Amino acid sequence: MAYLTHFILLLLINLASSQQISNTESSSSTTTNPTTTEDCNNRWIYIRNLPSRFNLDLLTNCSEYPIFDDFCPYLANHGLGQKTHTKSRSWYRTDPLLLELIFHRRILEYPCLTNDPNVANAVFLPYYGAIDSLKYLYGPDVNSSFQHGIGLFDFLQSDEPGIWNRHMGHDHFLVMSRPAWDFCQPLDNDPPIWGTSFLELPEFYNVTVLVPEGRAWPWQEHAVPYPTSFHPPNLACFEAWIQRVRRSRRVSLMLFAGGGGIGASPNIRRSIRTECENANTSMTKDNTGYSQICHIVDCSNGICEHDPIRYMRPMLQATFCLQPPGDTPTRRSTFDAVTAGCIPVFFEEMSARSQYRWHLPEEKYPEFSVFIPKEEVVFKGLKILDVLMGIPRSEVRKMRESVIELIPRVMYRRHGSSLGLRTKKDAFDTAIDGALQTIKDKLNDLSEQ
Ligand SMILES: *[C@@H]1O[C@H](CO)[C@@H](O)[C@H](O)[C@H]1NC(C)=O
Ligand SMILES: *[C@@H]1O[C@H](CO)[C@@H](O)[C@H](O)[C@H]1NC(C)=O
Ligand SMILES: *[C@@H]1O[C@H](CO)[C@@H](O)[C@H](O)[C@H]1NC(C)=O
Ligand SMILES: *[C@@H]1O[C@H](CO)[C@@H](O)[C@H](O)[C@H]1NC(C)=O
Repeated sequence: MAYLTHFILLLLINLASSQQISNTESSSSTTTNPTTTEDCNNRWIYIRNLPSRFNLDLLTNCSEYPIFDDFCPYLANHGLGQKTHTKSRSWYRTDPLLLELIFHRRILEYPCLTNDPNVANAVFLPYYGAIDSLKYLYGPDVNSSFQHGIGLFDFLQSDEPGIWNRHMGHDHFLVMSRPAWDFCQPLDNDPPIWGTSFLELPEFYNVTVLVPEGRAWPWQEHAVPYPTSFHPPNLACFEAWIQRVRRSRRVSLMLFAGGGGIGASPNIRRSIRTECENANTSMTKDNTGYSQICHIVDCSNGICEHDPIRYMRPMLQATFCLQPPGDTPTRRSTFDAVTAGCIPVFFEEMSARSQYRWHLPEEKYPEFSVFIPKEEVVFKGLKILDVLMGIPRSEVRKMRESVIELIPRVMYRRHGSSLGLRTKKDAFDTAIDGALQTIKDKLNDLSEQ
């Protein structure tokens, strides 16, 4: 517990000091400051001041959910987690649940922050909504999951209500670091089945919510990449990694890093396992050019989650990385694969194409990924291997280049990174652009009505 208190104190101190830095940056008008030369027109963000019960206090319970992991170790480095090795500059044991912290820390160094809500184009709520949901999902409040968010709404209505009322919440946005499915239990489910009702509350319909996975139909949430373990601090570290990705020898044709597919019922993960087991014996190095056709990195029981070395090295050595759906359609692994320059293979549109439109433009999918409908594989005997072997080598090289070009957009660079690296738009910057545009469009639509 002592070490946890230490983390939180550090976090508080750092949050407070960077808030000051950002505020002075954004309010000063010196032309020598590189951040103020950026065009902030239509890009001003106001960070709503929330009581700590909506964010930092929630971290104090990080070890108290008996059927959920103790997430205290991953709070380090403002949510990036501990470094994988003491000497590592860019690699951390990142848990995707802490995207809310990562985002909060990063927005404090956003160059266009304003102290005046009346000039803001968007209002950010630094609420750790997914962490707050744990007490409903895995804790004592399971039977009151429809209350998730009510306290926040009450606060927004009672404390400076003018900020909400200016646009009835249409200019507000926040991050919730779990799939939207966890927050859309219908309000009339009694007893509750799964999830809280945060996204079902009319109180929050007007708010833009950033999640790692959205629902199939357009709603108030928008998907942003899961954080990977790669958080470079400067351009040199970033470029060194890109070099490594580009030069890496791809000795396996395809790789699957994950678990599942063990049971008897037909599903895509099972088909992948079966195909991999057979592929090893039926193909040889001579007729494929690969020393391994299929590589499975067994990640059952969450053993890979905070240990990126287990899967990043194999991904660097593979040409294609299979991204079958699991409990939900999306996977963090998609972004790990892109980071490793491994061409993702999707089996349903919900896994990425219909999700991450800001970060991975829909029309680019044929350039950087392969799509094989899962029904064809599971029920019609289509071999993944045949599809992938059928792609000419020259095409594969072009696809890999397209994947490498996407790396900056899916990474969350380290907070406090060098100005050189800040010139590359990362996942955070792209999410902010998307949120600002969504809010702008909404406000335009409203004013036309
Ligand atoms: C979190 O910790 C506080 C203080 O220890 C406690 O009052 C509260 O019930 C805890 N919440 C959960 C969900 O465990
Ligand atoms: C929630 O409600 C169910 C059904 O009424 C009950 O069995 C269960 O004990 C309750 N859980 C808690 C944590 O109160
Ligand atoms: C959401 O926006 C609609 C239309 O602008 C408005 O009527 C409604 O009151 C807003 N909801 C809240 C909770 O402010
Ligand atoms: C395929 O063979 C390689 C080398 O013999 C081995 O390391 C790998 O685990 C095998 N893969 C599967 C899926 O059996």
